[in-house]
Amino acid sequence: MMITNICCIGAGYVGGPTMAIIAQKCPHIRVTVVDLNEKRIAAWNDPNVNNIPIYEPGLSDVVAEARGRNLFFSTEVDKAIDEAQMIFISVNTPTKTYGVGKGMAADLKYIELCARQIARVSKNDKIVVEKSTLPVRTASAIKDILDNTGNGVNFQILSNPEFLAEGTAVEDLFAPDRVLIGGDTTPEGQKAIQQLVDVYANWVPTDKILTTNVWSSELSKLTANAFLAQRVSSINALSELCEKTGADVNEVAKAIGLDSRIGPKFLKASVGFGGSCFQKDILNLVYIAKSYGLNEVADYWEQVIIMNDHQKRRFAKNIIKTLYNTVSGKKIAFLGWAFKKDTNDTRESAAIYVADDLLSEQANISVYDPKVGIEQIQFDLNYLETRSEAENLKGVQVATNAYEACNNAHAIAVLTEWDEFKTYDWQKIYDNMLKPAFVFDGRNLLNKAELEKIGFVYQAIGS
Ligand code: NAD
Ligand code: UDX
Repeated sequence: MMITNICCIGAGYVGGPTMAIIAQKCPHIRVTVVDLNEKRIAAWNDPNVNNIPIYEPGLSDVVAEARGRNLFFSTEVDKAIDEAQMIFISVNTPTKTYGVGKGMAADLKYIELCARQIARVSKNDKIVVEKSTLPVRTASAIKDILDNTGNGVNFQILSNPEFLAEGTAVEDLFAPDRVLIGGDTTPEGQKAIQQLVDVYANWVPTDKILTTNVWSSELSKLTANAFLAQRVSSINALSELCEKTGADVNEVAKAIGLDSRIGPKFLKASVGFGGSCFQKDILNLVYIAKSYGLNEVADYWEQVIIMNDHQKRRFAKNIIKTLYNTVSGKKIAFLGWAFKKDTNDTRESAAIYVADDLLSEQANISVYDPKVGIEQIQFDLNYLETRSEAENLKGVQVATNAYEACNNAHAIAVLTEWDEFKTYDWQKIYDNMLKPAFVFDGRNLLNKAELEKIGFVYQAIGS
């Protein structure tokens, strides 16, 4: 049976873009993305396609083409589940903030709610696809719920983790390095796998579609993120040693990256990795390892997080030390708040933690980010619960452009590698700053020679 009706629960950074691309590439499949968040769904349905809730280069064009044709966004979850042959679960799986496993394990309450809702609503056989990133063996819990509370219908559970990176979601989805599908080894499981393979085969070459058992697929996703994050922490660890020894981390990264066994990607030293995935997924991996009594395995991966926390903290400490050991009452301009360029996502962004440390030293922060506004910035700081909302409001202003943010500032901190930062009139920025004018480049983005020629005191990561 060919799949012609798909439902996706969760219209976030994964559900929205993945389903938009499936709908665009498969006009014969009706795709309905549902979410409990009415505001988010209303934004996905905004007549002005530039107002969709997630900023990703190229995404609004894809949505404009498919929306209303075979791509729909709705809050009617039951209806969409009922009508679909295949249901993707793309809800959030954040780190638990309470109870057993607090601060480490993945919180699966949203996943379980989805499973129970699917069980309650379904009147015919369905394929349920785990698109969210989940601890290994979650599929058996989902199956238990579906089989025991269902209406006697048959469910097949597939694991189909998503490997897109934010900021490049559309290109990653158009031409993925691979698509991974895990399923049961039974004939029914294999049939379900094939049905999902057939969906992707509409645009992904079949040699890039990898099929495995469910557990390998679930664990591969956590492993991929752990390996990627580990590369960033490895190069960041070396960046500190470079600063002490006169080596330059960019040169070291280039020199090692030319070894084809190491490869050039993901070796950019930075103020620390952010994003909703790396920290959460490594903590989850650490928790799983611990739960099997594998303490050495757990410690090994936890070090990636410890290193990342250190990298964020030492960036803030260096600003304070360089500004004569006090930032109290000083204006510090932040260029960038998002966790990387080309996204409006700020989850776990290094900027939040650097700001938090500087606010504790009574700095006045003025932020400019091309895609992030005051509401989100205040939300991020308030979420830490370090100080009152009123104090956060007092300590952080948001500027409408970078020149305004830097006007009369003692120092600039570059927290996100937005391309536009490179194109500014840096002489003009310098002229309007207090002297000495400092730049702390947390992304090694700007041209050191050019800035020093203008008169800036310029500090990068790892040199
Ligand atoms: P998100 O928070 O942007 O979106 C999740 C959405 O699910 C929210 O809009 C929420 O309202 C909705 N939701 C939660 N429970 C619901 C329910 N019971 N019914 C209907 N809607 C519900 O999260 P995201 O970034 O899209 O991540 C989703 C999953 O994908 C996570 O497991 C994440 O680890 C994984 N993932 C994320 C990325 C990424 O780059 N963001 C990449 C790969 C995998
Ligand atoms: C990551 C994975 O790359 C993706 O495959 C997975 O599906 C979700 O998690 P994402 O978090 O969206 O994607 O962005 P990514 O490009 O991986 O960057 C994560 C963080 O690492 C960012 O803060 C980025 O600035 C930082 N980073 C990345 C570095 O500091 N240096 C690098 O060399 C690469």
